[in-house]
Amino acid sequence: MLARVRRGSVIQLAAIALVAAVVATAVALLIPWLPVAAGEEAERIHFVYWFTTAICIGVFAVVAAILGYSIWKFRVKPDDFSDGPPTHGHTQLEIIWTAIPAVLVTAISIVSAIVLAQNSRAGDNPLVVKVVAQQFAWTFTYPNGKTYGYLTLPEGRHTKLDLTANDVIHSFWVPELSQKQDAVPGQHTSIVVTPNRTGNFPVICTELCGLGHAAMRSHVEIMAAASFDKWVKSGGRPAGAAPGLAVFQQNGCGGCHTFKPAGSNGNVGPDLDDLKELAAKAGRGSEQDFIRESIVEPGAYIAPGFQDAMPHIYGAQIPAKQLQDLVQYLAGGS
Ligand code: CUA
Repeated sequence: MLARVRRGSVIQLAAIALVAAVVATAVALLIPWLPVAAGEEAERIHFVYWFTTAICIGVFAVVAAILGYSIWKFRVKPDDFSDGPPTHGHTQLEIIWTAIPAVLVTAISIVSAIVLAQNSRAGDNPLVVKVVAQQFAWTFTYPNGKTYGYLTLPEGRHTKLDLTANDVIHSFWVPELSQKQDAVPGQHTSIVVTPNRTGNFPVICTELCGLGHAAMRSHVEIMAAASFDKWVKSGGRPAGAAPGLAVFQQNGCGGCHTFKPAGSNGNVGPDLDDLKELAAKAGRGSEQDFIRESIVEPGAYIAPGFQDAMPHIYGAQIPAKQLQDLVQYLAGGS
C-alpha cells in the first residue's frame, strides 16, 4: 500500500518537474537573450551561459516540483490554526541538497576558469590596437601609427586591444564580442578578441563617465582578412577626403556632435551643421575664429541650451596644422 502511494507521488513529482523544465527551457530558447557571437571568445562565453542555464533549469524543475507538490498535498484547511508537528529534519536529505549544489557551482567555476584562460590567449602574433577613451569618444591607433575614431578588425586573427583612458574610468564593450574591460587613466588593461563573423557592430562605453556617457559610442567593422589589408594600405579613408575629416575622427568629435559631412550624429554638443548661425549668434569674431576658440577654449562661449561639457584638452592635444585643417573642415572648406 505504502509503496503504491510512494510510486504515485514520485510520478506526480516527476510530472510537475517536467512541466516546469519545459516552460523554463522554452523561456530560455524562444527569447533571443544573447546578441549574435561575432568572435571566438564570445562563443566560449555563450557556452558558459548555456551551461549555467541548463544547470539552473534542472535545479528550478526540482524545486518547483517539490514546492508545487507540497502546496497541493499538504495544504492545511482554512480553519486550521494549530501548530504543525515538530520535526527534526532529515540529515541525509540535507547532505544531498548541500552536496549537489556544491558540485554544480564548482563545475561552473571550473568551466568559467577554463574559458577565461582560453579567452586571454593572444597567440604569438596578435594585431595590437591601442584604444584610448576620453570624455566622450574612443580612438583606435594601429601599429602603423594611424589613429581613427572607429575600430576596424580583421576576421580570423587574434587582436589585442590595449586600453587606457585620458580622464576618468570608461569601459569598452562590444556586445557581439561579449567582453567588457575598463579603460583606466594611468593604467593599461587589455582584452583579446578573435572575430569570426564580418559585420558592423556598436562599441559602447559601459561605465558612467559624465554627461556624454550615453552618447559615447563608436562602431567596429569586422572585415575579411584580405579587405582588412586593403583598408590598412588605403589609409582607412577614401583618397581625396578632407584632411580635417581625419582630425575630426581621430579626436572623436562625432561622439558628441552631429556633422553631416562626417556622417556623425552625436547630440551632447551643438549640431556642427549649424556653425554659421551659431557663430553669428555668438558674435565672437569671424566664423573660423569662433570655431577655433570653441575647440581650444570650449568654456569661453557656451551655446544656449548646452552645458560646459566639452573637455578642455583639445588645445593641447591637437597640433597647429591639424587644428587648422579641422577649423577649415568645420567651416565648410576642404
Ligand atoms: Cu565613457 Cu561612459
